[in-house]
Amino acid sequence: MLFIRAFIEVYTNRIFLIGLPGVGKTYAAKLLANELNVPFYDLDSLIEQQKGKAIAVIFEEVGEDGFRKIEADILFSYFNSNQSFVMACGGGTPCFYNNMEYMNQSGLTVYLIDYLDTIAQRLVKEKAQRPLIAKLTNENILPYLQELRAKREPYYLQAHIIVDGETQLAEKLKLFIAG
Ligand code: S3P
Repeated sequence: MLFIRAFIEVYTNRIFLIGLPGVGKTYAAKLLANELNVPFYDLDSLIEQQKGKAIAVIFEEVGEDGFRKIEADILFSYFNSNQSFVMACGGGTPCFYNNMEYMNQSGLTVYLIDYLDTIAQRLVKEKAQRPLIAKLTNENILPYLQELRAKREPYYLQAHIIVDGETQLAEKLKLFIAG
């Protein structure tokens, strides 16, 4: 706790939200950015803007490896600025290159969690925009998420803070910040 307080004193306004696809990172990041009065960034949207293409098209053209390189390059370009922001990362962002290590060094990382069946229900409705999920049947989304979480948690669990349920986020961080 003391560590987190000290950390926030240095990096209060640079926050990276991480977690599985569909957990609500974008929603929570917008809420928090608004709360802290700093810019909100969505890493997927930054990639789409810079490349002028949808994530699904980038996956088709350069595959997942190519996408991960682009993702890391764009993420890294934000480490060098002194700017405050709240960034919603892509679900896979912490798990490639040294992304998690650098996010931990450059800001406060928050791992957002929720029940997998809640996330699965959300993803059934939003499949099309997510190339790794679009190919799954609705019944396969939950087992896919179970497997994905097991693979990714070694990275996600390196976050400074773990928050359950998207609505708790702003409240919990406000408490930390108020110290
Ligand atoms: C991905 C999640 C997506 C996006 C890309 C890959 C992943 O972001 O970055 O489709 O590997 O889990 P969201 O978590 O916002 O869906």
